[in-house]
Amino acid sequence: MIPPAFIDELLARTDIVEIIEPKVALKKSGQNYSGLCPFHQEKSPSFSVSQEKQFYYCFGCQASGSALKFLMEFDRLDFVSAVETLAGRLGLAVPNDRSEGDEEAFKKRNATFEILSTAKDFYKQQLKGHPERQRAVDYLKQRGLTGQIAAKFELGFAPPGWQHLLGDQGDDETAVRGLLAAGLIVDQQAEGKRYDRFRDRVMFPIRDLRGRTIAFGGRVIGDGKPKYLNSPETEVFHKGQELYGLFEARKSVNKLSRLLVVEGYMDVVALAQNGIEFAVATLGTATSDDHIQRMYRIVSEIVFCFDGDAAGLRAAWKALLTVLPHLSDGRSARFMFLPSGDDPDTLVRRVGQSKFLESIDAAQSVSDWFFTKLTEDLAAEGIPTEDIAGKAALSNRAMPLINLMPDGVFRQLMIDALSTATGLASDRLKDVTVRYQPSIEAPPAVPPEDEISDEYWGQEEEIERSPEIDPALAMLILQPELALEFPESEFLQLAAGAQNKLIQAIATAVHTESLTSPGEILARYARRPEQSLIKKAFEYKPLLPQEHLRDEFIGRMQRKFARFQEVEARSQINHLLLKPPSALTDEERLLLRQHLSKRS
Ligand code: UTP
Ligand code: MN
Repeated sequence: MIPPAFIDELLARTDIVEIIEPKVALKKSGQNYSGLCPFHQEKSPSFSVSQEKQFYYCFGCQASGSALKFLMEFDRLDFVSAVETLAGRLGLAVPNDRSEGDEEAFKKRNATFEILSTAKDFYKQQLKGHPERQRAVDYLKQRGLTGQIAAKFELGFAPPGWQHLLGDQGDDETAVRGLLAAGLIVDQQAEGKRYDRFRDRVMFPIRDLRGRTIAFGGRVIGDGKPKYLNSPETEVFHKGQELYGLFEARKSVNKLSRLLVVEGYMDVVALAQNGIEFAVATLGTATSDDHIQRMYRIVSEIVFCFDGDAAGLRAAWKALLTVLPHLSDGRSARFMFLPSGDDPDTLVRRVGQSKFLESIDAAQSVSDWFFTKLTEDLAAEGIPTEDIAGKAALSNRAMPLINLMPDGVFRQLMIDALSTATGLASDRLKDVTVRYQPSIEAPPAVPPEDEISDEYWGQEEEIERSPEIDPALAMLILQPELALEFPESEFLQLAAGAQNKLIQAIATAVHTESLTSPGEILARYARRPEQSLIKKAFEYKPLLPQEHLRDEFIGRMQRKFARFQEVEARSQINHLLLKPPSALTDEERLLLRQHLSKRS
């Protein structure tokens, strides 16, 4: 016999989609996933998997059940083996005989839930009736909260004094042990004293997904230390897994599609007060794997909200690393940074619901924040990512992290974005940590010219020609005024590749400083790193009539500009593809549609 509590736990920690997906090809359709039913023959999909409700259902043959049932039916496992399979995935040992100890533990858990629920009711009651209730009520009002919201979150008041919960049960050892197990009283054994943990505080009950109270957070009224006091870890409360406000969010939002992760109890409550009912808070810990699994089981998008200060940035990066392995297709995560000095509570109270919602909508995508952060880090270390060495460093840092992501479209998009940023082909990036040696000798960041027929270049030239010199650069150095064939702004897009950048710099100088002779160019770069490149280009002498030189230059530059535009467009599209559809502006949507139809 396996204890029912263990089965509960197992199902709570398993995602049915992850169980079914490897066996049945599933496609996301709306809130659910659908595919061809594995339990009967069919041509069009009527098998549906609900991630939210954690069960499958076939509209054709009515097969239905949990992840456990699926394993039993599909893999033809008996109950115990199916349980073992699920437990194995989670690294849990199955308690395989329901010994008296398990039975005992199960009962104890239930007793703890009872005690916590009674305490919650007690604290609520005190907020309504205790002689000193007014201080607590005034405090909540002063923080902008109404009675309705207090009721929704079942806020309470732990009155001053040491012995409320124990009351006259002080001598009842079972009662004392229960309160201790629930984390509600403190047992100072040395002094033989027992007293209430929470005194003179506003109480926030923390609930599990079923709405059972599993712990409390208590805030001091006004100033005082510690500002928040939390229940200790108990057998029903594991801080690193729970999210304050998740139960309430699920209850009040009909179709929950995203969750906003904030830091504090007050933030969650204040946001709800202002009509943003999908916020949850980690309980004084960093966002954990468990948190993320729990959220993605309910929604497909997580928006992390952080302070804009250094600590906030650190926390955001940590959250990003934690979320990456969970970003299978269809899921997204975004990052929102608050103005300095604000937390969600102060911000939403100041700017109101709709402005706050707008800033949620404007939150950065994973890929955005990922590349921004890596680029900024490198820049701070004096490694600008505009040059080849920087691009190499960027790919070396990015790839191992991208490799944390599960296979899928999203991961490929990240690789493509990196490829665009570095100019390295994505198949090379995939094993970049093995093969790619950062070096300034690395190939130019823009793919080599698709070799155009060089009918104007004589046979002799072919031999003389130094292969790595871009003919366009050579021509520009020989005849700087060729730059005037294009507006200055055109050259600005040549942002990758040493030779392209040199073309850009020279062309700009021609436009703005009317630099006109090859000699001036040589002089200008005399002691600069680009010098050897210039010299080589200078030696690269095409034997061409003037007018052909001009045409050739124009043709080459046009192709070059077109390639850059394409790279830019691709990066823009990749960027758009990473955004959740709901966050796209009409203009972006149009762009995306145009591009996608162009591709096919
Ligand atoms: P903050 O110090 O940012 O507080 O703690 P806050 O949420 O803005 O609180 P108010 O607005 O002053 O009421 C953020 C979270 O860190 C945990 C709590 O979970 C809190 O909500 N914390 C903070 C503690 O657990 N203990 C503390 O003493 C302080
Ligand atoms: Mn605050």
